[in-house]
Amino acid sequence: MSINVRTVFPLLSTTAPEWAHSVLEDPIALLIDHAFLEKKAANNALDMMTLWPGECVPGWVETMTDVGRDEAAHLAQVTRILTRRGGRLTRIHKNPYANALRALVRKGEIGDTLDRLLVSAMIELRSCERFSVLAAQPPGPRIHSGLPSGAGLQAGA
Ligand SMILES: [Fe+2]
Repeated sequence: MSINVRTVFPLLSTTAPEWAHSVLEDPIALLIDHAFLEKKAANNALDMMTLWPGECVPGWVETMTDVGRDEAAHLAQVTRILTRRGGRLTRIHKNPYANALRALVRKGEIGDTLDRLLVSAMIELRSCERFSVLAAQPPGPRIHSGLPSGAGLQAGA
């Protein structure tokens, strides 16, 4: 099934198919990048658990702990796939795309929480869009086999 990326994902730009060709040449690096972004998503959710805007927001803590648990489960899944494919997680990883977005978050201001939520949503959206690009690739030694649909692949690789 083919999807129209432009209508499904409200992004200003779309990922070119050449991106998939490029990253699939080094699936271990792609998995490591993916694992670190799942880790960051889990950490971010747990950080935000106590950063509700204003007075306590009913359901906030439960929502953030649920997101943290889900992202940690994704991390475990990706690291299992990485290990099965002979890779190992590195200690250090940089993601210029995510870092540039996070640099836009207003620090210590009232919009901090809103900005963090928006940046997280944008990273997740790009992730889903990139999974759709990978899914459109012809059959072969697929990097995403075994991953749940929409599970991360945030835009760093
Ligand atoms: Fe995830």
